[in-house]
Formats: sequence, C-alpha cells, structure tokens
Amino acid sequence: MVDSDLLKQNVGKQASELIQDGQVVGLGTGSTTHHFIRYLGERVKNEELDILGIPTSFQSLILARESGIKITTLDEYDINIAVDGADEVNPSLDLIKGGGAAHTLEKLVDSSADEFVVIVDDSKMVDSLGKFPVPLEIIPDSLRLVKNAVIEMGGVPELRMGIQKDGPVITDNGNFVLDTKFDDIENPYELEIELNTIPGVLENGIFAGITDKVIVGRENGNEIIEK
Ligand code: 5RP
Repeated sequence: MVDSDLLKQNVGKQASELIQDGQVVGLGTGSTTHHFIRYLGERVKNEELDILGIPTSFQSLILARESGIKITTLDEYDINIAVDGADEVNPSLDLIKGGGAAHTLEKLVDSSADEFVVIVDDSKMVDSLGKFPVPLEIIPDSLRLVKNAVIEMGGVPELRMGIQKDGPVITDNGNFVLDTKFDDIENPYELEIELNTIPGVLENGIFAGITDKVIVGRENGNEIIEK
C-alpha cells in the first residue's frame, strides 16, 4: 500500500531544492506544501539562505514563521517562484485547487509568480478535471443567488461545512465556500472565467494555464512534467 504522505514529503523536498538564495517565494497551502515549507525552513537554517516567503493562508503563514522563514507581502515584492499543491491536475497542467479553502490568495500568489511549481502525489493526476468539485469563495449574502446561477450552468453546489465548528466553513477572508460539482470539465479556461462573472463570487478554484512545472510523487520516484 502506497504511503501518500511519503510521496508528499518527497515532492516537498525536491521543490525546496529549487529555491535559490535571494528569492521571494510564494508559499502554498495544504498537506503537501506543509512538507515543502518545512524542508525550505531547514535549508534556510542550514545554508543561511536569505529568502522571503509570501504565504497564501494563515496555515502557511504560521508554519513559515515556525520554520524560520522571513515573511513579506505582495504589496512589497514580486514573487520569483511559487510552490503549491493541487486537488486535480489534467494533462495540460490545468488545476482544481481550493481543498483548503485558500484558493483566492493562492491564485493571486501563484499566477503572479515568475515560475509556478505544483507538487502532488500521483492520486491527483486525472485525464479530465471534474471529479473534485470546484470551490467557489462567495460572499455570505450571495449564497442563494450564486447557488441558483451555478445550477443554471449545470453545476451541483454544496455549501462547505466546518469540522469542529458549527455551521459553514469561513475562509481566511471571512467568506463561504460553495463546492460545485461539474461533470467532466471540457474547457477549464471558459468555466474559470464564467464562474468569476457571477455576482458574489470572489474567486473559483480552477487554475487554467498558469502552471509551469508539476512534480508528481510516485511510488518509484518523482516525475517532473514541464509545460
Ligand atoms: C488549498 C489547496 C491545496 O493546495 C490543495 O487542496 C491540495 O492540498 P493537499 O496537499 O493537502 O492535498 O488548494 O486551498
């Protein structure tokens, strides 16, 4: 049986070795990126690297601080390289993200980086996006209207509920997440744009056309897929 956390560790380590002294680094969110941030923190300590991190969530902010990575903001610096996880990756390297409800800031950070590297275990590789629902970050007042709009588009929406918290998940930005299932997303570019035109939607979890490189963790070693 494959230990998926070991695969996540392997890709996190390899991605941490891509970072060069002096770089500004986008720090993704999730259990795979967790390993990347930890390994990067070790390199900062052992090699006295002078790098700055720009986190994509409270999770990555706290972890980066604990790992000894200096933090800055997008207001102050452009990003040289961003490393982030994904929930699905198709053969064109389009993604579904947002399993951790952090996709709004992740998209800002990942899409603005000079280089965007995705790290996943091989369970995330799919022929076609859509088994994982597309998360929409929506302002709370828009819930009923956005639900109706996505149903009209053929989606099946479900409000994401909290764990160890009654009621809906509240994002780092104070909003709701509407997980919306679309079967077989034929054109991720079009759907990404269309979803963001619905009033009340802040951002959706389709990341089409921005990935430069994917490091896939497999039982027999990591595979690098470049655009
Ligand atoms: C968070 C994300 C994560 O990167 C994505 O959900 C993958 O997470 P994990 O590495 O835990 O599988 O998009 O919003």
